[in-house]
Amino acid sequence: MTAYGATSIDLPVLVTEQFRLRPFQSDDVDWVYEISLDPEMLRWVSLPVPYKRSHAQFFVENIAIARAHNGTGANFVIENAVTGQPLGRIGLHRKPDRAAEVGYWLAAHARGSGVMTAAVRAACQWGFSPEGMGLRRILWHALVGNVGSRKVAERAGFTIHANTESQSWRGHPTEKWSGVLIAAQ
Ligand SMILES: CC(C)(COP(=O)(O)OP(=O)(O)OC[C@H]1O[C@@H](n2cnc3c(N)ncnc32)[C@H](O)[C@@H]1OP(=O)(O)O)[C@@H](O)C(=O)NCCC(=O)NCCS
Repeated sequence: MTAYGATSIDLPVLVTEQFRLRPFQSDDVDWVYEISLDPEMLRWVSLPVPYKRSHAQFFVENIAIARAHNGTGANFVIENAVTGQPLGRIGLHRKPDRAAEVGYWLAAHARGSGVMTAAVRAACQWGFSPEGMGLRRILWHALVGNVGSRKVAERAGFTIHANTESQSWRGHPTEKWSGVLIAAQ
């Protein structure tokens, strides 16, 4: 038992025609590092700057893999179903009251194809299911201006709140959008 009464999460491989969602492995560090150097990642995702390979290693081992073991989050690699090429990541991090926060990013070459909207739908459907995380609500946040992330959330069915929320971003006050997806009854 850990935070919010969570036990370890047994991550499945979720298969669609276009891509697979699979658990992270320790040899995922190199491509995570390469993707994380992309300017859009550094602009919109809360990453350390300058970003080093050790940060990618920490993400893979201490976040993606460790959180499934301690039950605090589920992180999947999105990979091409035919070639096995890693395309990005989608994660659900537990919050109180059977909620989780979704986070996602894609390699620049994989953007603009609708992959992320389909991955968000697949991961959220699994997260709501009793054999998944048994969630009731999934929360989404993005810095104001991250239109790509917002469109993905909207297309995946999230309701975006009209008001923005204040937050600190790299030591500066800024605003974020937020939204919610509720489990079907
Ligand atoms: C956010 C992200 C996952 C979206 O994936 P994507 O493959 O680009 O998504 P889509 O191609 O479905 O694009 C979504 C829509 O947003 C639009 N869009 C993307 N970036 C935009 C921008 N900077 N300004 C305006 N519109 C933008 C696209 O044109 C598309 O709209 P359209 O289909 O009506 O033309 C991807 O851009 C990414 O990984 N970005 C960097 C990391 C990040 O921001 N993660 C989210 C943190 S909250």
